[in-house]
Amino acid sequence: MHRSHHCAQLSPAQLGATVSLAGWVDTIRDQGGIIFVDLRDREGVTQVKLEARDNAALAEQLKHLKTESVIGITGKVVRRPAGTENKSLPTGEIEIEAASLEIHNIADTPPFPLDDAGGDKVNEDLRLTYRYLDLRRPKMRKNLVVRHRAAKSIRDYFDAQGFLEIETPALFKSTPEGAREYLVPSRIHPGQFYALSQSPQQFKQILMVAGVEKYFQIARCFRDEDLRADRQMEFTQVDVEASFVTREDIYALFEGMLKKLWKDVLGTDIPTPFQRMPFADAMNRFGVDKPDLRFGLELVDFTELFKASAFKVFSSAATSNGGAVKAFNAKGLADLTQGELKNLEEIAKSLGAKGLAFIKVEGGEWKSPIVKFFSDTEKAALTEKLGIAEGDMVFFAAAPWEKACAILGRIRLEAAALLQKRGKLTIRHDDWKFLWVVDFPLMSYDEERGGYAATHHPFTAPVAEDAAFLDTDPKKVRGQHYDVVLNGMELGGGSIRIHQPTLQKKVFEDVLKIPADVVESRFGYMLKAFTYGAPPHGGIAFGLDRMCALLCGTTSIRDVIAFPKTQKGQDLMAQSPTPVTAKQLKELHIQTVMP
Ligand code: AMO
Ligand code: AMP
Repeated sequence: MHRSHHCAQLSPAQLGATVSLAGWVDTIRDQGGIIFVDLRDREGVTQVKLEARDNAALAEQLKHLKTESVIGITGKVVRRPAGTENKSLPTGEIEIEAASLEIHNIADTPPFPLDDAGGDKVNEDLRLTYRYLDLRRPKMRKNLVVRHRAAKSIRDYFDAQGFLEIETPALFKSTPEGAREYLVPSRIHPGQFYALSQSPQQFKQILMVAGVEKYFQIARCFRDEDLRADRQMEFTQVDVEASFVTREDIYALFEGMLKKLWKDVLGTDIPTPFQRMPFADAMNRFGVDKPDLRFGLELVDFTELFKASAFKVFSSAATSNGGAVKAFNAKGLADLTQGELKNLEEIAKSLGAKGLAFIKVEGGEWKSPIVKFFSDTEKAALTEKLGIAEGDMVFFAAAPWEKACAILGRIRLEAAALLQKRGKLTIRHDDWKFLWVVDFPLMSYDEERGGYAATHHPFTAPVAEDAAFLDTDPKKVRGQHYDVVLNGMELGGGSIRIHQPTLQKKVFEDVLKIPADVVESRFGYMLKAFTYGAPPHGGIAFGLDRMCALLCGTTSIRDVIAFPKTQKGQDLMAQSPTPVTAKQLKELHIQTVMP
């Protein structure tokens, strides 16, 4: 037997008992003939003590242990002397008087400190190279526990609602929509490839045709995308589909899931139903389709006001087709430094802005290179609509509507961060502002390609009363699509689907202009399935990694994935990707071409 108890279990209730513990050496202190070892396992820490004069040989062994070595200790539970208790430890009233020691493994000195504070300071690449050490840190261990609890809460919820958990293939076929795919060569079909599933979308719809009615899966998905803090090439979705449901049913189902999840994991009650906001409002007011509602700094439209402005940059945008002039007041940010302002301008330009006009209010004066162009009426309207006062900083964007919104939406987030840094704005990670974004356009027009693309995916059903516009003006058609947003992060998205084969074919061929033979080879099986009794259906998928990151209060999903890839798509611990042998390639009928 390695252990009788774990390291957070003992209390004065076991005084006098002989116990065995096993774990890692957290710290060793030699205080003038008394050796203290803090022994740590997954559950916690227990203090082990030995007076050298009681057992000189054992004391010698303990003293020379190295931290992070793995040992087993047997000894008696005793009360710590009065005044030496540690109130912050569950085992802080007792200690173990060591009687025997077993050394399982001697550890080398870790390349970085394994406490939370020390580990946070080191380069993430080092943490990922030694992930097994990084995961020993209390914070990372807690994240793994939160993820486990979250997955369990979700499974219990869907089970109670009558949903079946069904696995779908990871090896799927290439249907190049959406993100870039990972291809997997077939050994037995030379020159042919599988694609790793980007999401179980098509299979879950087929499961509805199969009569499953209520499906869910905690599904691994693969997308060859540029990686960011909230994006991995391999990630996990909570994927759901149900038959005979409306949008309202899905909203209620997911609000219930999130309510239970927040209660189970954090003990927090989140209010439901969630607020809903049409896509156009989200863009107009927050400049993004995933607004962070924890703070204001809302955008205001001044297109009408500046139609006849003397400032040509504004008047020409305001009078051009689809152009807009928008502004927001970064309240209290007049003390922005030159460097910070320059940085904001660079960000705006990277999003396609020609400039970032501003008004800085200092000493009762509007300081700005463009204020000389403004009429008194324009100044009065700005003051009123933006509530301009001493110490404020107002930013403008004049551009096509969507671009103007997006530029200021991004500057709004940057401004909020700058205000927070100055202590002028408080944004708490546990101020949970859930939101459904609804009424997305079904299609967006891609100027570059000169054609329509599905805003969500091509299986999304149009809002019934807009369907007629599919033939005449697809831009006008709203989709039965919804996103769940939390504190500026897109948590999930889904839709009611098309279940009529004729309508699905029309969307593929007439609206998206996919040639009929390509539609047949990619989606023919689905269209065929729909001719054999397809129920109306809809669903949604949530990013489990993103949800766990928010629950853990971290901004990077890498912190809630045991073995994530770096931004460059590498596993620094196992060291992948790697070259393979010529023999392997030959077997797969593959030739590599080096750049
Ligand atoms: P969508 O593509 O919006 O929808 O994905 C759903 C959710 O998955 C998460 N997510 C990611 N998380 C981490 N890394 C990534 N690379 C990544 N990509 C997406 C996000 C996102 O909201 N089949 C549809 C859902 C449906 O219609 O039912 C789908 O996959 O949190
Ligand atoms: P200009 O007259 O072009 O020197 O521009 C005056 C100010 O307006 C500068 O601060 C520019 O950064 C800014 N500016 C120029 N074009 C735009 C635009 N499209 N939207 C917002 N600000 C702009």
